[in-house]
Amino acid sequence: MSETLPSWWPEKPPIYNIERSYLENLEEGPFFDGKIPERTLPPKNEWVDFLGFLVAHPLGVPAGPLLNSRWVAFAAKMGFDIVTYKTIRSKPHPAHPLPNMIYVDTLGSLTYDRHEETLKQAEHPPKDARSLAATNSFGIPSKDRTFLVKDIARANEALAPGQVMIVSIVGTPRPNEDFYEDFVRAAEIALEGGAKIIEADLSCPNVTTCEGSLFTSPEAVYEISSRVKKAIGPVPLIIKVGVIEDKEVLRRVMCAAAKGGVQAICGINTVSMKVVKGDGTPALGEKRLKSGVCGGPIREVALDFIQKAHAVNQEEQLGMTIMGTGGVTAPEHFDQFFNAGATVAMSAVGMMWDPYLAARYFQC
Ligand SMILES: Cc1cc2nc3c(=O)[nH]c(=O)nc-3n(C[C@H](O)[C@H](O)[C@H](O)COP(=O)(O)O)c2cc1C
Repeated sequence: MSETLPSWWPEKPPIYNIERSYLENLEEGPFFDGKIPERTLPPKNEWVDFLGFLVAHPLGVPAGPLLNSRWVAFAAKMGFDIVTYKTIRSKPHPAHPLPNMIYVDTLGSLTYDRHEETLKQAEHPPKDARSLAATNSFGIPSKDRTFLVKDIARANEALAPGQVMIVSIVGTPRPNEDFYEDFVRAAEIALEGGAKIIEADLSCPNVTTCEGSLFTSPEAVYEISSRVKKAIGPVPLIIKVGVIEDKEVLRRVMCAAAKGGVQAICGINTVSMKVVKGDGTPALGEKRLKSGVCGGPIREVALDFIQKAHAVNQEEQLGMTIMGTGGVTAPEHFDQFFNAGATVAMSAVGMMWDPYLAARYFQC
């Protein structure tokens, strides 16, 4: 890519319109009127092996921002070679009402000691995408099986050589149903759509039930991953985790995951924190006191996760692939992740506010 890339934020709005509903974004987005950047691929002998698939560059978009096949196709065209189809459930599920995303003032990096603090909603968005901090609360909405099977297939078809898509799945706790088995039901939908790689989301901080803390329990991690792995056979399985400060807990979780057949670990999910308006009332309403904070201020914790996961992987000889996400909002952040031990570096909120992020990295 030798062209001059256009600037984006703040002259242009994010490609996801936070003033509009999740469904409107799904049906009408991504909101992008720019130019698709030119792409010069590296020679094939430099492509990277990612879980058995050769990818041109291991830059990716994690679960969440790519709402359907149109969003997946868009991210792939913008140079993200590992794209994740948003987390799906076994049955349709509505999104939380607006607001689903708001800006927050984090007053610096959200280090571990700050996760119990209450953050304030920001009155104005930052001018620089690097200092972008937002909180999101969607509730993992999902479409029905018929839609998903067709749309996952369509998304796969939209990819170019050197690109691969992951499908993220989650189980839903329902009365009188086996919660862990529901991960398998969701994985079956992904498989029917032709998923090449499956990621089990064990970490969503925005759900009001026990789903959110599964990733810290080695027993739950083993039980879910072994059941899903049995159902998906040779299809590679990733687990998505949230913040794990204690390296020994991470060690137990990664060992349990490896025993359950997991080939890669992706972290971190958003950091769950209380967010209030200027007057002290809950920014997302009384029913959603906590929500997931993403963007630049969580990068330090994401880097710490990558370093620890990389070390555990080597110490225990697990042979897992480490995938980093959290706070990549500028091109140089991808290399920070690679240098910390990640094989794959991903950006969610960063690419929503600057869709040229991967292209800018390639130009560096
Ligand atoms: C709009 C949005 C929706 C998200 N939805 C999901 C989701 O459904 N499943 C999941 O595993 N992570 C979800 N995430 C979390 C991201 O995958 C990622 O872990 C987190 O945002 C940290 O990365 P970032 O700082 O680059 O945004 C979502 C993030 C955003 C911004």
